Formats: sequence, C-alpha cells, structure tokens
Amino acid sequence: MVKICCIGAGYVGGPTMAVIALKCPDIKVTVVDISTQRITAWNSDQLPIYEPGLEEIVKQCRGNNLFFSTEVEKNVADADIVFVSVNTPTKTQGLGAGKAADLTYWESAARMIADVSKSAKIVVEKSTVPVKTAEAIEKILTHNSKGINFEILSNPEFLAEGTAISDLFNPDRVLIGGRETPDGNKAVQTLKAVYAHWVPEDRIICSNLWSAELSKLAANAFLAQRISSVNAMSALCEATGADVTQVAHAIGTDSRIGSKFLNASVGFGGSCFQKDILNLVYICECSALPEAANYWKQVIKVNDYQKTRFVNRVVASMFNTVANKKVAILGFAFKKDTGDTREAPAIDVCRGLLVEKGQLRIYDPQVPPEQMRKDITMVRFDWDRNVALRSLGDDELKQVTVVHDAYEATIDAHAVCILTEWDEFKSLDFKKIYDKMQKPAFVFDGRNVVDVGKLREIGFIVYSIGKPLDAWLKDMPAVA
Ligand code: NAD
Ligand code: UDX
Repeated sequence: MVKICCIGAGYVGGPTMAVIALKCPDIKVTVVDISTQRITAWNSDQLPIYEPGLEEIVKQCRGNNLFFSTEVEKNVADADIVFVSVNTPTKTQGLGAGKAADLTYWESAARMIADVSKSAKIVVEKSTVPVKTAEAIEKILTHNSKGINFEILSNPEFLAEGTAISDLFNPDRVLIGGRETPDGNKAVQTLKAVYAHWVPEDRIICSNLWSAELSKLAANAFLAQRISSVNAMSALCEATGADVTQVAHAIGTDSRIGSKFLNASVGFGGSCFQKDILNLVYICECSALPEAANYWKQVIKVNDYQKTRFVNRVVASMFNTVANKKVAILGFAFKKDTGDTREAPAIDVCRGLLVEKGQLRIYDPQVPPEQMRKDITMVRFDWDRNVALRSLGDDELKQVTVVHDAYEATIDAHAVCILTEWDEFKSLDFKKIYDKMQKPAFVFDGRNVVDVGKLREIGFIVYSIGKPLDAWLKDMPAVA
C-alpha cells in the first residue's frame, strides 16, 4: 500500500488529503501537524475548519485509510510521498519584511524530513512558495540526507475556501512540476497516478519545477487583478451613474474576458491573494524588474483603496460622524461558506469604524467571537511603507459586541454594513429590520447582495458598491 504523509493539517492539507483518501482507498494517508489542538479537532466531531461537504468525507475515511496525528517524525519516516502543506505567511521582520514569503516553517519541515528519512521519498511542495524554492529545499535535503534519494515535485493547490471539496473533486487542472531527468519524470508519473484515480488525464498538467511554482503565484495574481479592476471600475460607476453589475455583465459576455470573478466588492480578502502578490512583487524587485513589481503592487493598492473608500462612504453619509452610533456588521469571514477571517476586508472596515468611535454589533454565522476580537486588535502592517499600524486596544474593544443573529445586530442600529455575502443575508426581512432601526436608516452593502430598489421603497438610504448613488449620498462630501 502506498503511504502518503502530509505535513500541515490546515485549510489545504486537511481537505486535500481527505479527498485523496476518499478517492484512493488503496493509499494510506496520514496528516500530521505540530499543533495538538488542530489534530485533536480533526479527530473529533468538531473539525477545525468549516468547509461544506468535508465532515462527511472525514467521517467516512477516518480510521480506515485517513489518519490525523501529532507523531510527525514517525509518519514522515514511514511515507513514500511526503506533501508539505505548512503555512508560508508574509515576513514581518528582517530582509524582505512586508513582502517576501516566510519560509521558516517550510525549512524546518525539510530539515526534519532529511533527519528522519531512512528510505527514498518524493517530497511534494503543496504550500505556495516563491519560484525556485524547490532548489533551496533540494539543497537542504541532499546536504542532510545521508545518501537517501529525494525527488522534489511542485504540486500547487488551486482550491478556494468555501468550495474546497467541489474544487478538489472536479479541478480545472492539477499541476505537477518536476525535474526533467529520468528520476524526476518517474516521480511526476507516481504523483500523476494518485490524481488519476479521479481526475481525467487531460486535466493533469506536467511542467518543469519553476513553471509550476510560478504558475501558482501567477494564477492568484491574475484572479486578484480582475477583482481590483472591477473594483476600480465600481468607483467610476458611482461617480458617473453607471451600474457596475451591468458593466461587469456587458464585458463578461465577451468570451475573451469571461464572466467569472467580476463581482465588485468591499475588497478581496483571504490568506492567499495579498500574500502571494506581495511575494510576486518581491521576486520581481529581486530580479531587477521594478516596472513589473509596480504593476502587481497596484492590485493591492486598489484593494486597500476600496476598503478605505467603503469606510469613508459610511462616515460621510452619516453626517461625517459615526461616533457613538450603532453600526450592525453583517458578516466577518473573508467570503461566504467559511469561518476563515485571514485578511478579511471586515477587519479593516471594523477598525476604520472603531477609530471613528462607532459602536459595532457584529454577526457572522461561522466566525467565533474571540476570533473577531483577536483580528480587530492584532497588529496590522502597512505593506507599502513596511510599518506597523496603530494597534487597537481594550478601549476600542469595548465598542464591539458580538451577537448570534442578524436581527439582533440591527436592533436600534443607525446603519447596517454587509461585509460577507452569506446567503442568509439575501433573505432577511428588511421591513422588520427597518422598523427597529434609528432613522434615517442606512444600509451599506459591501457585497451587492440586497435588492437596492426594494430597500429604498421600505425607506432605507442604501449604498451598494458601484451602483447609482442614492440622492442622499450624492449630496454628501465626495469620498476618496
Ligand atoms: P494553515 O495555517 O491553515 O495550515 C498550516 C499548518 O501547518 C498549521 O496547522 C501549522 O501548525 C502546520 N505546521 C507548520 N509548520 C509545521 C511543521 N514544521 N510540522 C508540522 N506542521 C507544521 O495554512 P493553509 O491555509 O492550509 O495554507 C498552507 C499553504 O497552502 C500555504 O502556503 C498557502 O499559501 C497555500 N494555499 C492555501 C490555500 C487556502 O485556501 N488556504 C489555497 C491554496 C494554497
Ligand atoms: C483563492 C483562489 O481562488 C484559489 O484558486 C487559491 O487556491 C487560493 O486563493 P480563496 O482566497 O479561498 O481562493 O477564495 P476566492 O474565491 O478566490 O476569493 C478571494 C476573495 O476575493 C474573497 O474575499 C472574495 O469575496 C473576493 N472576491 C472573489 C470578490 O470580491 N469578487 C469576485 O468576483 C470574486
């Protein structure tokens, strides 16, 4: 029986390995992590991450051919194929701080693999890493290997959170990069055979190592660039009376442009887009390509602009102050169907409103209250100037209440901000909400989920990203 061990039981390692176990009953899959808390959760009824469809798969495979363990070294030593799916966050200190990927976790995993291995292994980069990381990893492995042969493959993961299981079941493509040598090709074929259990062969793309590594950064950069493009357009729509949904539809029907990923929003979030673009920017800078670096930087600048613009719109509309006003925040996760809040636009929007002394009542169906508080108070970095932003503390936290229901959040509120597109927000009874709010009652829709016309009929003053402005908002100071 082929044995796979995955180092890192996170948002990628967990779901990816669960699907491999489900689709490959002839393979034993063990997911290991240094976090006892995470492994305990994977072995319990309360999985550490929320992902539609995941629980059923874990329940079906766990204890059969899927195992979660803290015995990292033993399981790595036993494995034929070792996936490394540890976190690769942005460095916050030292050389490249604010942009470069922090490969500390990756390097320590590689050193441990070299230390404990007694048989040849295929080591698979699952984490998103800078191009040429495989070369560094290869050096660490071969210099510490005691003569054991390691083949390094790059197999970046393209799943999106919230749809991880369907993305894994039915991927647009699986990408495998390897050395162009006989041993390298053999390793590529071995990994290909794993995916071929359920992925059609024509969707398994093989390339050289550097193309595979760079393709992952490129894919995220292109996706994020579409969102910043439509968001930049949304500002112009508001200034001109055009409707960004209509513009997106009109351009998206051009088959060369395509209709996906053109939803204007309060900004993109998630653990990947900003981190991976900053990483790309750093690589461009290190390769003496400042123009290419500046091009990609602009994608993040527009994203920051969109979040600031939203906060300014809220404040400007409400007579230039939200001090002591109650603002209901609906949604905190970076997108629907996940409890993940990493780089969620809600963090920056809430911080902006708290600095303006707003009283926030936050509701999200999946994010625990302690996570929201942690996110709001954690140190944030200005990636462009590489400085820490002002930390928020206990005083600001006193302005935050976390509630368990959208209606509860809106009672007596002056305004409602929708920051995640949870389906349940689409079917809220806004008449009931309006009746219990302070007047004038405002809705600021950062995800374009509400029916603007209907809400205006009820009596709300509505701001929806990139939509023609309410007469009220037109009279307010312009927001930058
Ligand atoms: P995560 O933080 O959820 O999980 C990483 C796990 O690795 C943690 O549980 C951590 O404890 C563990 N870990 C770190 N060092 C370890 C070590 N030496 N030994 C054992 N365990 C160790 O991260 P994630 O979201 O799963 O992302 C992992 C990688 O995949 C990142 O490089 C990320 O960029 C990439 N990626 C993420 C997504 C996503 O949607 N989250 C999608 C595609 C790619
Ligand atoms: C992304 C990539 O899609 C995935 O391929 C990669 O493996 C990891 O990074 P993820 O961050 O999980 O996945 O979610 P995604 O659906 O890409 O959304 C990212 C952010 O962009 C979210 O905040 C989302 O709300 C926002 N978004 C997405 C928009 O604002 N508009 C859109 O049209 C699409």
